[in-house]
Amino acid sequence: MNKSSSKNSSTNPLAVVILAAGQGTRMKSERPKVMHELAGLPMIQWVIRTAEELDPEKIIVVAGPGMPELLQAVKPHQAVIQEIRNGTVGALKVALSALKNFKGDVLVLAGDVPLITKATLQKLIRARSEKPIYGLAVLGAEMCDPTGYGRLITSKDGTLKKIVEHKDATDEEREIKLVNTGAWCIESLRLGAWINQVKNKNTAQEYYLTDLPQVAAKDHVPTAVAVADCAQEVQGCNSRAEMAALERALQQRLREKTMEGGVTMIDPATVTLHFDTVIGKDVVIEPNVFFGPGVEVAPQAVIRGFSHIEGAKIGKGAVIGPFARLRPGAEIGAEARIGNFVEIKQSKIGRHSKINHLAYVGDTMMGDDVNFSAGAITVNYDGFEKHKTIIGKGVMIGSNVNLVAPVTINDGAFIAAGSTITENVSANALAIERDTAEIRKGWAAEYRRKKESLVKKLGKKKKK
Ligand code: UD1
Ligand code: CA
Repeated sequence: MNKSSSKNSSTNPLAVVILAAGQGTRMKSERPKVMHELAGLPMIQWVIRTAEELDPEKIIVVAGPGMPELLQAVKPHQAVIQEIRNGTVGALKVALSALKNFKGDVLVLAGDVPLITKATLQKLIRARSEKPIYGLAVLGAEMCDPTGYGRLITSKDGTLKKIVEHKDATDEEREIKLVNTGAWCIESLRLGAWINQVKNKNTAQEYYLTDLPQVAAKDHVPTAVAVADCAQEVQGCNSRAEMAALERALQQRLREKTMEGGVTMIDPATVTLHFDTVIGKDVVIEPNVFFGPGVEVAPQAVIRGFSHIEGAKIGKGAVIGPFARLRPGAEIGAEARIGNFVEIKQSKIGRHSKINHLAYVGDTMMGDDVNFSAGAITVNYDGFEKHKTIIGKGVMIGSNVNLVAPVTINDGAFIAAGSTITENVSANALAIERDTAEIRKGWAAEYRRKKESLVKKLGKKKKK
């Protein structure tokens, strides 16, 4: 028994090959297709993560030439380069050169089918080893709209006859809804010999993996078909529109997982999560909230509508938004209140502190129980460097205050509204920086009287 036997419900050792050398022409992008992100994680990583769950002996990714970011992203797994992109068989050939001493099942996955699940792959692996022993199995799916996919042409007994690519299919074949998902499980023993027999007689003049069943049939080896339970998870990504559909499906998966963990979402469809978003129990998320990378929300917090949050830690019972923006490095203490049109960056906000409206706080250490009023800001940037603001416990920052960093406001100090503070303020002191207002008695009434009589005169002239 090998280590993968219990996990894969097959007695064979397992190697996974992920095909990702395609240019992704239909994406019209400078980046390799599989490096485009879904919920913030490159597509290829989703496939790798699922492959890892099967605990295979090896994972090999086939990249195209000139894809340095892809080579980086597959680490610590091995990447091989398919120098000439002449089809999926060519890609598999390159991978096999890195699997010379491997004996067992080779699971071939497409890098652009990112939502496939472990359970479905196990079903495919099982189908390969079912009796009568099949040398290979292909994963199929019933698609409502099979346009673009290769069609699986099956015999009455359910075994596969052949696969016809959409562009090579007749009108009748195009009616078939059972499609090739691009995932295969093939016994390594004969794989090398079979792929050498594949020809490129098709519209695209490429060597297609989909010709393999016919080659195997010559050796009297039938191809098993495993059908995925859920067509959505085997949807491919060839265009931006398909990518958006995958993102939508993945977001729904992430939301369901989040809600299962005890989070309330009032309108889940409007909440965007990141693959690494961590949200505690009894958190309530109002509609239209966006989570970017690296967000952690402690239990019982409330995230009000239209908040945009990335790289932030939110403490227990804190209330964020509506319309709040938390940028990387924002750490919000327990029960703090961050209100509408407040932006916080690289700052620690103490317990119970309130920044309720229209404020900017950057590069700041703020103690507990601070009140940071409407229109107040930290002036953290001098055009060249960023500077720190330190605000002690129980400080009151009045409305429209500018705290010009570097500056320290010590515990319990009170900063009068409208002040621009450029010096440190001692504990419990009042800092006020304002000109004395000049009050001219009766000025406004006199001003209005003059203006109104002028308007009257002009009106009379026009009538004449
Ligand atoms: C492929 C299948 C099709 C299936 C569909 C499912 C073939 C010939 N066709 O079509 O039957 O319904 O997937 O999504 O297999 N690749 C390489 N090297 C190459 C060519 C492709 O590594 O030379 C990789 C691509 O990066 C991609 C995968 O193979 O990850 C599939 O290639 P793609 O061009 O997307 O094939 P489809 O037209 O989608
Ligand atoms: Ca594809």
